[in-house]
Amino acid sequence: MVLATQLLDWYDKNSRDLPWRKDNDAYKVWVSEIMLQQTRVEVVKDYYTRWMERFPTLEALAQTSEQEVLTYWQGLGYYNRARNLLSGVREVCAEYGGKVPDNAPAIQKLPGVGEYTAGAIASIAYNRPSPAIDGNVLRIFSRLFCLEEDITKQATKRKIDRLIRDHMSVERPGDFNQALMDLGSMVCIPQRPRCQLCPLATLCEAQARDVQDVLPVRTPKKAPLHIKLAAGIVIQSSSLLITQRPATGMLAGMWEFPTVELAEDDSTSERLKTRIKSDLQQEVCVGKRLFHYIHTFSHRKWDISFYQCQWLAGNTISFPAHWLGLSELDTVPWAGPHRKVATVLGEQFTQEL
Ligand code: ADE
Repeated sequence: MVLATQLLDWYDKNSRDLPWRKDNDAYKVWVSEIMLQQTRVEVVKDYYTRWMERFPTLEALAQTSEQEVLTYWQGLGYYNRARNLLSGVREVCAEYGGKVPDNAPAIQKLPGVGEYTAGAIASIAYNRPSPAIDGNVLRIFSRLFCLEEDITKQATKRKIDRLIRDHMSVERPGDFNQALMDLGSMVCIPQRPRCQLCPLATLCEAQARDVQDVLPVRTPKKAPLHIKLAAGIVIQSSSLLITQRPATGMLAGMWEFPTVELAEDDSTSERLKTRIKSDLQQEVCVGKRLFHYIHTFSHRKWDISFYQCQWLAGNTISFPAHWLGLSELDTVPWAGPHRKVATVLGEQFTQEL
């Protein structure tokens, strides 16, 4: 147990002071872990604090509409995380009397909860000796044991899972997992690891062989698909024309300016004008480009230009489109870069008042 002892001694002196570490309540650990998937700690801090002010308990969240929950998630991205969290807390209310189950296999059955998150919740909230293996932990263990296998392979993950179970602290499994998270983000970092600060340096085989810089081994990720889009900003009587994305698929149910995907030789203004006419029955004249953003999601890269459109005429709008008042732009969950544009337009509108 040398590894656990050295790691926990270091953690006791060096752990990060993070808002979700003040309380081991399972609901709070769950929220923080879901927010921390794919999002940096520094970004999550404020979101987590604001979230707990609005939804301090699992019941409070369970009773909230999906649209309101999404507005609190706005900016964190990967919105299915928020939808699943909401379905999950509702399931805990309906099936478990409002108490999050106390072991990793049961927790992992909840929507949106994978092996890592289930292990983190079970260990931090309930002191269960369940590993929580993410990219940081894979990196640390592949260096500690000088593993040359590809860490993206299931077999390597299983091997590391066994190594962690063999070395985990049974008294403080939650702290053990969180100590690995801190070590991975502050010391055993991907490039130029800070081995001189590492509490496990004397146990590290990669350091002994001076190969820490070339570990872990991983197959590179595929580049995201590049998608060219054009969106129209149509303003009429202090309201903006917006449409809701379909209920399934990427950014499901979120709101955006009317948008078209462009092929190589498309005429942007013709395509936008036709889309707004045929789907929304509004006549517009497409003007100049006002904003341009490149927004990278995990598998896609949106190259999106926003055009000013002069409204000429149109029929009454019906769902899933809406005229949204310029003073109420923060009441809907926006899709990706559309939120940035809405924020600028909202600020301009407030200044003009
Ligand atoms: N990353 C994922 N979970 C975390 C946690 N509980 N503390 C710090 N970083 C994390």
